[in-house]
Amino acid sequence: MQRLKLVHSDSSPNDVLLEVSDFSLRFKGAQKDLISHVSFSVKAGQTVCIVGESGCGKSVTSLAMMGLLPEGAAEIHGGGITFDGRHYDLKDQKALREFRGSRMTMIFQEPMTSLNPSFRIGDQIAEAVQCHGAHTAEEARARALAMLVRVGIPAPEKRMREYPHQLSGGMRQRVMIAMALVNDPALLIADEPTTALDVTIQAQILDLIRDLQAETNMGTIMITHDLGVVAEIADTVAVMYAGTVVEAGPAEQIFNDPQHPYTIGLMSSIPKLTGPRGRLATVPGMVPTAENMPDGCRFATRCPFAQDICKTDPKPQSFGNGHVAACHFAPLDTHFEACA
Ligand SMILES: Nc1ncnc2c1ncn2[C@@H]1O[C@H](COP(=O)(O)OP(=O)(O)OP(=O)(O)O)[C@@H](O)[C@H]1O
Ligand code: SF4
Ligand SMILES: [Mg+2]
Repeated sequence: MQRLKLVHSDSSPNDVLLEVSDFSLRFKGAQKDLISHVSFSVKAGQTVCIVGESGCGKSVTSLAMMGLLPEGAAEIHGGGITFDGRHYDLKDQKALREFRGSRMTMIFQEPMTSLNPSFRIGDQIAEAVQCHGAHTAEEARARALAMLVRVGIPAPEKRMREYPHQLSGGMRQRVMIAMALVNDPALLIADEPTTALDVTIQAQILDLIRDLQAETNMGTIMITHDLGVVAEIADTVAVMYAGTVVEAGPAEQIFNDPQHPYTIGLMSSIPKLTGPRGRLATVPGMVPTAENMPDGCRFATRCPFAQDICKTDPKPQSFGNGHVAACHFAPLDTHFEACA
């Protein structure tokens, strides 16, 4: 049987692969923007973890980059991405099809979002190959089979002929990864890919993604609520709150020296001596919806340090090595004795 050789991209590890700049979006009928001025970047071979509570706009941001927002549902009125050295305006969602499914792919929490229940697994993966390259049907099937082997599917020839419902959740997730990676993407976006799986399978899937990433130098955006996962795999972290990136930087700095009150709140349950583990802590209160978004700092309604000045937009403060936090009072320990 053919051993699939995944293509190692030409980019060196420090090349910026994706730059998202100043992305803003408003859902139709809403009075205010849900996503406001979101910017971050991903380097080749690196993993950026996006963390934040439910409803912060993590999935909407990823879907927008893939050109997958439901048509007519949202008005994108700012922002672009530079990907693979080319600039794209996010308003032109159709233009993003150029790389979707080939150079940039996405996997979801629920594999059935990507898999069609009424087609055999082998046919679906082979079709993904044929959609994005000049391959004969035979070559595409050979590549699909080799990819199933690569993601650790036992009895892959038999699985090729089966339907998605005949597989366990963990196996379906592997098939989804096989389909996402079969065309050697430069960037994989994984939106909570292991949340629905039990702990052992979760660890296997994360290991698999990491191995494939090392093999190909692919960049990865991992969206997760699990700080254990972040601690294990993130090179950099972007913390999203209510449609904004409130803090971003190297994972070690975000864990050891968080500067934004929201990040500190999310991490407050982490026992210092044992290192980061477990899901995000609960911050009292609720994420505001677009309708009741406060002016200025969006965290002001829940922030224990909020003052009048917080009714104006906080500018990102820089702490070196790309670590930034958007808070009027960052670093907090120079402003509030209680934090010292
Ligand atoms: N098509 C839509 N029309 C209107 N509002 C939407 C639409 N899609 C998402 N939203 C709203 O946008 C907000 C952000 O949603 P999103 O799914 O990006 O959150 P998330 O950060 O991924 O949350 P979770 O962690 O629960 O997956 C939510 O308040 C959601 O209700
Ligand atoms: S800007 Fe003000 S409200 Fe926002 S996080 Fe900082 S202190 Fe809190
Ligand atoms: Mg989501």
